[in-house]
This record gives sequence, C-alpha cells and structure tokens, in this order.
Amino acid sequence: MNRLFALTIITFAVLLCGCKKTLPIAIVPEPVKIEQKSGSFRVDENTILCFGDFSKECPELPKLIRESYERYFNMRPNLGDAESAGKNSILFILNEKKSKELGDEGYIITVKPKRIVVEANTGAGCFYGLQTLLQMAGQDKIAGSPAFRVPCAVITDHPRFGYRGAHLDVSRHFFDTAFVKKYIDILAFYKLNKFHWHLTDDHGWRVQIDKYPLLTSVGAWRPERTSWDTLHPVLPGEAMTYGGFYTKGQIRDIVKYAAARNIDIIPEIEIPGHCSAILAAYPQFACDDYPYTVAVGPYWPPKAIMCAGNDDIITFYNNVLDEIAELFPYKYIHIGGDEAFNDNWQVCPKCQKRIEDEHLADEFELQQWLMNQIEKHLKSIHKKAIIWDDIVSEDMVNTSTIMCWQGTKAARTAAKHGNDVIMCPTTHCYFNYYQCKDADEPLCMEGYVPLGKAYSFEPMPEGLGASEQKHILGAQCNIWTEFINTPEQAEYMLMPRLFALSECVWSKKENKNAKKFESKVEFERSLVRKMGYNPSKRTIMDFE
Ligand code: ACM
Ligand code: ZN
Repeated sequence: MNRLFALTIITFAVLLCGCKKTLPIAIVPEPVKIEQKSGSFRVDENTILCFGDFSKECPELPKLIRESYERYFNMRPNLGDAESAGKNSILFILNEKKSKELGDEGYIITVKPKRIVVEANTGAGCFYGLQTLLQMAGQDKIAGSPAFRVPCAVITDHPRFGYRGAHLDVSRHFFDTAFVKKYIDILAFYKLNKFHWHLTDDHGWRVQIDKYPLLTSVGAWRPERTSWDTLHPVLPGEAMTYGGFYTKGQIRDIVKYAAARNIDIIPEIEIPGHCSAILAAYPQFACDDYPYTVAVGPYWPPKAIMCAGNDDIITFYNNVLDEIAELFPYKYIHIGGDEAFNDNWQVCPKCQKRIEDEHLADEFELQQWLMNQIEKHLKSIHKKAIIWDDIVSEDMVNTSTIMCWQGTKAARTAAKHGNDVIMCPTTHCYFNYYQCKDADEPLCMEGYVPLGKAYSFEPMPEGLGASEQKHILGAQCNIWTEFINTPEQAEYMLMPRLFALSECVWSKKENKNAKKFESKVEFERSLVRKMGYNPSKRTIMDFE
C-alpha cells in the first residue's frame, strides 16, 4: 500500500515536471531579444492562418506564407482575415504605425497558448518573422500526431547589417534554374537578402545577350572532362558538350522569385580579366592573337584580358551592361575587376598608347581608368557599380562600392576614401575552402575555413571612425565552383557555414556566442536535411 502511494506521488511529480518543462528556443540567426514564457501554442489541422491587409504593400506575400506553412507543417491551414483571428490562430499583420526599432526588416512574434501574432512594418519583416516561427515550431513535432508545438515567447528582432549576402559562381560549373531557386530559398530561410550571381568567367558565359549571340552559342560551352585537376587546353575537334546559360525569360523568373523572398540579385559581369569565354567568342577584343578557348580545368590562361586600348571593348561592355540593367532591377551591378593580370597590356601597343594618351602612370592605373569609364556608363543608366578590392588605391577617383576579398586593408582605405564596402575576406567567407582536414574530405580549393572560423568573422574592420563605419554595408560568403560540380556539393560547402554567416551579419555583436551557436548547429542541420539539402556533417569549431 505504501509502495503504491509512493509510486502514485512519483508519477504525479514526473507528469507535473513534464508539463512545466519549457520547450527550447533555438533560432539561427540569434534574434535581438527572446522573452520566453511558460506554455506553448499547438499548430494543428484546426489552426487558422490569418492575414491583415497586405494588398497595397505586398499582395503576393500571404500566398507565399501559406505555401511555406503547408510545405513545412505538411498541413493545410484554414484561412482568415485579421478580424477572424481568434482562438488557435496565427495572424500576420503590417503595423499601421511604423516602429522605428523594427525598421524595414524587423518583426515581433508574440506566441501565446491560444494565438500567435507576427507583426512588422513591412512584408520583408513578416517574411523573416515566418522563418523564425518555422524554426521555433521545428523543435517540437508532437510524436504520433501531425501537430507541432511552438513555445510561448515574445521575440523582437531586426538585422545588424543591411547587406547580408551569398555568392554563387555558375561559370566554373553550371547550375540550373531549379538549383538557383533552391539556393535562394535557403539564403532567405537564414535571413540573407542579397544573392551575388557570378555569371561570367573564363569557364563559361552564362547569360543571354541579344547583341552578342556568340557569348552563349560559343562562350557557354566547353569539353566535358572527367579529370578536372590539370589545365590542358581544348583539343582540335573536341566536342563542346559541357555548359549552359540562362535565357532572359529564366532570369526574369528568378529575379521575381528572389524578390518575393526579399532577395535582391546582383549580377556580375567580369571586367577586364577572367574573360577567356568572351575571347573564345570574340577574339578581336584581345591584345594578341592567341587562340583563346573557354577554359578547361580549375585554372585559366592568365594572359586572358580584354584590350584596354581598344574602344570597341568599352562599347561591348556598355552594350552588355545595358541588357543586364534591363534584366535586373536592383541598383547594383558587379563589374568584377579582380585578378586582371596585365602582362598583355605591358606589351600591347594599343594599351600602351592609351596609357600615354590618358597620362596614366602604369597598367594598374589603366585598369582604374577602364573601370571608371564603365562606372560612368552605369551611372548614366542609373545603376551603381560594385568592384572587387583589386582596384583600390588612396587616390582613386572611383566612387563604386568595393567588395573586399583580400583582407581588411583595402576596406579601410575605401571606407576612409568615402566608398561603400562589402566584406567577404577569404579568411572567413570563402566557403569553397576546406571546412575539415580529414583525408576523406572531397577535393576543395586550397584554404581552411572551419565552422568556428566562419563564426568568428567580424564584418566591421578595426580602425574606422563612426562616419567611416557607415560605409561598411555588410558581408557575404563566396562559393567559387572550380571544385564544386553538383548541387549536392554546393550545399555541402554552404552548410553549416551559412548558419555561422547568418549570425555574423544579422545578430547583434553582443548576442553572438560560439558555445550557444555550437549547441544549435545539429538542430539546424537536421532541419535543412528535412528540407532536402545536403549539409556537411562536420561541426569543427576551430577558430584558427
Ligand atoms: C576572387 O576571389 N578572385 C574575387
Ligand atoms: Zn591591348
């Protein structure tokens, strides 16, 4: 009898503790403020998904939220408006009185046992509130039932940086539109808002340009090689079977797809180097008569550079950029500028004449001059240029935004000069480098950026005053695809390091915590696996 009594008490105590147990809240990127409350909201077949008035600002958003909800919860919600948002409802609303704290991308989620409200100033804020809500619900699927539990809490959130990006090189290997959309989806899920699309390089030109059809009929194709580890040129008569490009219709579709997910696309057209694919199609733009082909193998003929002494190349780029500007509505176009090896310019009479005529000191100034001509044209069509940091000097006249991949020195010079800056140093942001030193790791570009190193990234360079810091717009990761030839491998390289980058660019500096982040990685990894991605299984929190 005594034993039965004791057992009853113990069972009761266990049940009571079980009820009181607060569900974990683990969100990547870490929000500004989480106030956890007791209890939870149950998402089930009777939940009503309600929307305030989105008709003026973002009429497509309710449909997108509903589709995400259906895919994620595998349930069809009942639908309602703000008035019908009673018991067991999730309401998305736009604030009538705009909150200064939330800005253009922030949101507040209030989860109570009977109701969830996601509020924001903008559609983007509501979209990010949805991503947080999905992560909160993903922690606690109720076993044996289609329902999910969302822990009660008030979460207030907004980003640290306005530019939160990821790059993808589709030249070295081509990725189809289905994968580009899948890539955009996962960037948006982790609250990134820029996609830098590296569309042209030595290994293939990937965008339809009506004025120059050979760019895609010739420049988008190369021989398919099974061994991709040495440079050996195209052989006479070899079939050009590997490649592809995006039509204008496909690009417009992707731009629209990205915009619905709060992602601006920055197309990159490489000037004046990384141009073997152009020279294979239009050899008259070279300084010499070398028989250029689309590059094969991970490297490229280093002499490939457009002839800066030839006015026709400026006309060519301006015409191409006019078509690009018409396709991509975002204000920025990236015009490359990196690794423009100028050996040919040193011996080309036309390039040397240009140096003389324009009173330039050397080939470095010739590149600056060329980039300035292109920047002027972009300004005339109301676009802004982004250029890799190779062109930075203290006396540059260029006003472009500088993308810093070679460390922080050029970032400081550019910001002090008054140029805006986007950070993506190789040391922390090159996700095509190894994330693990194990011998069985797939072949990568030489370099080591383990997860801990990626997490330790601080986008704001040291040594800038307050007015200079304003020029640091944010940061991005880069995925160069010399050694990445499938979507699965691109996902493997991107994640889990994307989780780290998202905290670096979204979360407040004081809210970053490597131990807490590490404790969230496994859950995020299982979440993205369920979404059909292929993250690396490594969690290597090395900081060096
Ligand atoms: C670069 O990695 N060449 C920008
Ligand atoms: Zn030349």
